[in-house]
Amino acid sequence: MISEAELEALSYPGAPRMVTTSVPGPRSQESLRRSLDVESMARGGGDFPLVFDQGFGVTVKDPDGNLYIDISAGVGVNSVGRCHPRVVEAIQAQSQRLMHASDISNSKRVELAATLAEVMPEGLRGNCISYFTQSGSDALEAAIKFAKRVTGRQQILAFHGAYHGVWNASNALTTGNQYRSGYGPFMPGVIHAPYPYAYRFPFDTTTKSAERIAGEYVNYLLNTRYTGADDVAAVIVEPVQGEGGYVAPAPEFLQLLRKACDESGALLVVDEVQAGAGRTGKMWAVEHSGVRPDMLTFGKGMGGDLPMAGVALRTDLARQIPPGSQPGTFAANALSAAVCLTNIALLRDPKLELLDRARQLGEETLERVRARNHPRIGEVRGRGLMIGIELVEDRDSRTPLAAEKIGRIVVESLRRGVIMVPCGRNGNVLRLMPSLTIPRAYLFSALEILLSVLDTV
Ligand SMILES: Cc1ncc(COP(=O)(O)O)c(C=O)c1O
Repeated sequence: MISEAELEALSYPGAPRMVTTSVPGPRSQESLRRSLDVESMARGGGDFPLVFDQGFGVTVKDPDGNLYIDISAGVGVNSVGRCHPRVVEAIQAQSQRLMHASDISNSKRVELAATLAEVMPEGLRGNCISYFTQSGSDALEAAIKFAKRVTGRQQILAFHGAYHGVWNASNALTTGNQYRSGYGPFMPGVIHAPYPYAYRFPFDTTTKSAERIAGEYVNYLLNTRYTGADDVAAVIVEPVQGEGGYVAPAPEFLQLLRKACDESGALLVVDEVQAGAGRTGKMWAVEHSGVRPDMLTFGKGMGGDLPMAGVALRTDLARQIPPGSQPGTFAANALSAAVCLTNIALLRDPKLELLDRARQLGEETLERVRARNHPRIGEVRGRGLMIGIELVEDRDSRTPLAAEKIGRIVVESLRRGVIMVPCGRNGNVLRLMPSLTIPRAYLFSALEILLSVLDTV
């Protein structure tokens, strides 16, 4: 396993180190003011009071010179850390050869598709074809269209709390008023079912687990007459729900979905845009369940420092898609493909053991947070380095901690040098999703800072 000293050399030393008394500091404030004039605030993080100026590994500098530990990894993107030397080397080498090739094949892209086929979970491993996009949203748009095209069916089943992107079809699957309000109508034919979010499940779980209830409910919808779900092309599911609050269901849930899909003829699409790329301690989160998906969408951590996303489809399904029917000008740019290949190589490198490390550090983090038994923590959960700390006003009522208090936690964490991006249906889940290359010292000092900030609310 890679040593702590080697990992420390992959980030700036001495973080956190704050040089301004207020955050954002004067230069950052000036940049944020300019941003208001020239950048759309529809972007994510429009109200996040931080400006990135430099990044290395798990550390980030703002324009004022403050040095932060980033436990958000660019919202789950930088699985191997920012500007990893091997990634930079790959960019330098590839940029001398070829970058853009349009949607015409290029040798890096072919190499990437072949490598993806090797690293996919069972069911797709050695039996898939990849279609490339720039963003996770695009990947979901494509998966939805492909599922409709190959099944000849029109409906899609998704889940409460899901986030699959914000274009038209993907937004129809995504829940949450902040993403939907005023933008509809979206693609018709979407059915939403409960996700097994045990902490806030709408049904009684004293005799059956949330996973079982949610799985059986999907089976009921798909395989019973008169439910209206009689034309479902695909069930699209996050194996660990991301934006919905870092909810990691027991394997039984996906296993029940697989069974229900098999019986009804619907495809099972796992959206690994956030949970994939090693984050949960396996290359793909679906692998914790042994379930064989029909399609898998990837993004975020596969791309890392450059945009890369797409969908891997079972070969027999991909062969049914009419050639030339879904072109994309920038798809699998050779430079992005070279970076994605490097990310995959780092994640698979037996000398580094980054996935094992994610598993071990994740377990240790869960234990540490639980041991703290903080009255504001309603639940801590997750898998690998995908950990959610759900904050409540009090444990008995489970009332989500007020948005204003969460805002204060974010700002106070920044003031103390930790970048943390919350998530959850009520925005009250602190998420720990650092790069898999985070040194132990940085992870646990960031965690201590976060827990100490809780005392301020
Ligand atoms: C599970 C999941 N799917 C899709 C997306 C959309 O990805 P992108 O923001 O790259 O469009 C996200 C983004 O957070 C995601 O978490």
